[in-house]
Amino acid sequence: MKKNNKSVKWKGIILAGGYGTRLKPVTKAISKQLLPVYNKPMIYYPLSVLMLAGIKDILLITTKDNINNFKAILGSGKNLGIKLHYKIQKKPNGIAEAFIIGQQFIGTSNVCLILGDNVLYGQGLKFFLKNAMSRSKGATIFGYPVKDPSRFGIAELDKNNKIKKLVEKPKKPKSNLAIIGLYFYDKTVAELTKRVKKSPKGELEITDLNKLYHQKSTLNIEIFGRGFAWLDTGTYESLIDASNFIYIAEKRQGLQIACIEEIAYNNGWISKKTLHKVARENSNTDYGKYLLNIVKNK
Ligand code: G1P
Repeated sequence: MKKNNKSVKWKGIILAGGYGTRLKPVTKAISKQLLPVYNKPMIYYPLSVLMLAGIKDILLITTKDNINNFKAILGSGKNLGIKLHYKIQKKPNGIAEAFIIGQQFIGTSNVCLILGDNVLYGQGLKFFLKNAMSRSKGATIFGYPVKDPSRFGIAELDKNNKIKKLVEKPKKPKSNLAIIGLYFYDKTVAELTKRVKKSPKGELEITDLNKLYHQKSTLNIEIFGRGFAWLDTGTYESLIDASNFIYIAEKRQGLQIACIEEIAYNNGWISKKTLHKVARENSNTDYGKYLLNIVKNK
């Protein structure tokens, strides 16, 4: 596989659709991906991953009922030095539908898709992201060992750590390697998605799309191991676990996780003046005080 094609442009998609049925009644009125994970809306976490990857052109796909709430929180992206676009997914027709909805937005770029409820944290994340983006052709997915693989798409690997088989939510999993909700694809992704058939659930499954790349021998997998956190936020229990995790990590180190303005500033995408403005707007919170500290010290 060819590496390091610097001319390849990467765009990002965040899929924040679905009905959040396991978080009812709260999700009757608000999108799951806007619920707080400790001190920030859930959407900040996947957005921060795209920003850490250096991706500035991002499409957020959500439901008709929630699109204005996302716009109220994130706006055009100007305060983050990024460009945010919004589109509606009419029904939960599956994750891969994001590439049909986003085909025009993607154009001839490569694209990274992250699910709006995925929280990722760990040293070296940027390295993993850059590595995936150094591949101009094919796709990259990420595996993470879990205790309950039947809840996820999983990968079975051969003894050389190459993908043998991908299975979506297997009843009897032969591997504990879950595929996380972060995917990198080359510019052929929208066309390839059109070859994906609806699953018995009536959805365009992301695992079926990955299988097509696998059949073409262009699917890469990277494994996040120990010391890396991939957190689930789909149920009340996992949501409070994720919140506690972020709370403890931030309290201990005094560093904010998924602080999108800090990332924008460190990337050189926003000025100190913009950072200061956001800090003042949030001055009643630790988040705002943290930003103010950056304004003063960097
Ligand atoms: C989806 C995918 C699954 C993947 C998971 C990661 O499942 O279908 O392959 O492992 O996201 O979060 P869902 O969470 O939509 O049930």
